[in-house]
Amino acid sequence: MSGLTILVFMLWILKGAPSNMWEIKLPQKIDAISGFCVHIPCQFEIPDSFKPLLSQSAEALWKKTDIEGATVFSSARKTTSLLNGNVIGNILNNNCTTVFHNFPAGFGDTYFFRLQGHENLKYTFKQGVRITVHEDVLPPVLNPHAQVLEVLEGTKLTVSCSTVISCPSVQPLMQWNTQLEELLPPALQKDEVGQTLLVSSQMFNATPLNDQFKISCSLLYMQGTKTPAESSITLRVLYAPRNTIALVSPSGVLSEGSVVTLRCQSDANPAVQRYEWYKYNGNGKLELQNQGQTITMTAGVDVQGLYVCKVYNNRGIDQSKAVSVSINGCHCSIAPYIICGFLMLSLILITAVDLVKYKSLLKRLQASENTRGLMTYASLHKTSDSVYNVIQPRANRSEDDYENRHLSKQQSSS
Ligand SMILES: *[C@@H]1O[C@H](CO)[C@@H](O)[C@H](O)[C@H]1NC(C)=O
Repeated sequence: MSGLTILVFMLWILKGAPSNMWEIKLPQKIDAISGFCVHIPCQFEIPDSFKPLLSQSAEALWKKTDIEGATVFSSARKTTSLLNGNVIGNILNNNCTTVFHNFPAGFGDTYFFRLQGHENLKYTFKQGVRITVHEDVLPPVLNPHAQVLEVLEGTKLTVSCSTVISCPSVQPLMQWNTQLEELLPPALQKDEVGQTLLVSSQMFNATPLNDQFKISCSLLYMQGTKTPAESSITLRVLYAPRNTIALVSPSGVLSEGSVVTLRCQSDANPAVQRYEWYKYNGNGKLELQNQGQTITMTAGVDVQGLYVCKVYNNRGIDQSKAVSVSINGCHCSIAPYIICGFLMLSLILITAVDLVKYKSLLKRLQASENTRGLMTYASLHKTSDSVYNVIQPRANRSEDDYENRHLSKQQSSS
């Protein structure tokens, strides 16, 4: 649309010099604020044959409603004109730019420019400008023009705020509610029809932190009693799940048979569409257990282990850190078995060694008793020997020495 306007304007300029046309360039519409002035940028073109008839004294008139309508302003009869104003452009330069002061509330209409020079240079231009009078200040225009703006995370965004300054002598203060990454402060620009715009822009990268963020731009008029006008955009930033955590309830070591609940929490936009629970198997691999944000299980041997939750939305996937479910009363740990087994084995070994020693001693004893024929005495002594022998390993001295000496003592005493 604006491209087309520019093209038409360029063609208009190109053919500008030798012209046989009555042409006028005006904004299509102007939003005026009642009581404020109205600045009408205006440029006209007349056929070459009429150019000698144009002088500084040419009268500039404005008609209302249609080209045959009532004259509401004349540069020659300003004091009797309905509208109070001035043609600020130089007519000799084809510039009909006009300012109306204190534009009245009831005067919203289409206005047509009429030129009255010498002889038959009297013409009302066919194209008019529609002036709408507003009681209050119009809110600025935000671009992109949307109440809610949906963007993907990481999108580089430019939000611009603009307003047409319909009365340059009363310029508003343009303010943002927040300053994002990069700010182009308010500055005046001219559009292709010569209207003055006040424009400011902000540039930033959309992050999850900007979600639900409201960006607003307001216009504040220092003159008069106009209330500030504001426009805003609410951002909706779409992002993959993040900050995903798995929670075990109740926490700590659970007693066997009790109910345990796993709950998965995540931040995602749009909200998480699927929750999956995985458990580490014996090979350290994740195995899908269940689906749902919350899963409930009865604590048992098979339930104990490390769990991970995976979450999905249409932007991506996230995964929690592993959480542990531990159960008390379930002798799932092998450590006690190892200790217990080791102790039992040691006991068996000690007993076996002692048994072997006892048997060899008994043999030797019997052999010596037999040779001496002291059977009764030896059998009596055997008991004491075996008792002594059991105690003996704790002694520091060599067993054989002790036994030998003991035996020799017995022998000598007998
Ligand atoms: C017409 O006159 C106005 C007021 O003096 C001026 O601001 C504007 O730039 C002029 N337009 C052109 C095209 O020269």
